[in-house]
Amino acid sequence: MKDIENIRLDGTSVVILDQTLLPGETKFLTLASADELFDAIATLKVRGAPAIGIFAAFALYVLAVQIEAEDYISFCRKIMEYSAFLNSARPTAVNLHTQLKRMERLVESCKDADIPVILDAMRKEAQDIQQEDINMCKAISEHGLSLIRDRFVILTHCNAGPLATSRYGTGLGSILLGHERGIRLRAFCCETRPLMQGARLTAYELTRAGVDCTLICDNMASAVMKQGKIDAVFVGCDRVAKNGDTANKIGTSGLAVLAKHYGIPFYVFCPSSTIDPECETGADIEIELRSQEEITELYFQNPIAPPGINCYNPAFDVTDSSLITAIITENGVCKAPYGF
Ligand code: MRU
Repeated sequence: MKDIENIRLDGTSVVILDQTLLPGETKFLTLASADELFDAIATLKVRGAPAIGIFAAFALYVLAVQIEAEDYISFCRKIMEYSAFLNSARPTAVNLHTQLKRMERLVESCKDADIPVILDAMRKEAQDIQQEDINMCKAISEHGLSLIRDRFVILTHCNAGPLATSRYGTGLGSILLGHERGIRLRAFCCETRPLMQGARLTAYELTRAGVDCTLICDNMASAVMKQGKIDAVFVGCDRVAKNGDTANKIGTSGLAVLAKHYGIPFYVFCPSSTIDPECETGADIEIELRSQEEITELYFQNPIAPPGINCYNPAFDVTDSSLITAIITENGVCKAPYGF
């Protein structure tokens, strides 16, 4: 499949593919101001846990270039302010926090260096983060192939493909790699209300790669499982607790319950950068709440609910580790007890 370059550094700006416009429009945005960079994460122009971590690292570099500081102390203070600002754009995916902290640590380790030297180091660190993600996704996809047989049918939710990472993807990586290697695979994608990442992005990535893919509404998953159409469920995730509980797009935990009921293996894919060593269980994971317009209006020609209706719009849910057959990272296929 031809790669989609979703995030790249262009001099002193970050260029991203605007994921909110897919699949209808392929538009690249050149971003440099703090507000633009924050907005890109908050409005999901760039999205997916590994992708927002990579983007944030580049964003911090781009903001660092603009700092007019007399000395290291004031440069460093401004870096910490920008980092905290970017980190506040979304709470659930740990990668955003992890990669910003990595950039902060780098700056802290450069106390005796001149600012141009620190900037060079920051650019290189952000590029390393992206390259490491490419390598991890490739390794995850290879490990995932051990779970697939010829003619497998895989159900997936949200988008855990190249758009959500750097290349290959996590949950979609093995499907794309298996397809490239001639394994006959089919996929069912849940549309993933309210923001439709399954319909807009996963269906786009899979059909673009030539994978046989069927789109279903989220409430059809039980029916296709019951009809025996699904061999396995593959999803990505946004944060993994030490006990193996995982946060992923809202609706994931329901699929895990269904999969258990129907005796279908349920696999979670992520780079180890998505494991949060500071999080004991899923109860410690902050779940992002988003605006009610996403439910009532965003993807509809006309509002679909009475004006002023109360809505509850959590963007993620936590799947209990007891429902997960295995978690696949770049280090292999891990089974409970996890103890990450
Ligand atoms: O709100 P989103 O679109 O950023 O949510 C993304 C997901 O839930 C993905 O499944 C997850 O980040 C895995 S990305 C490889």
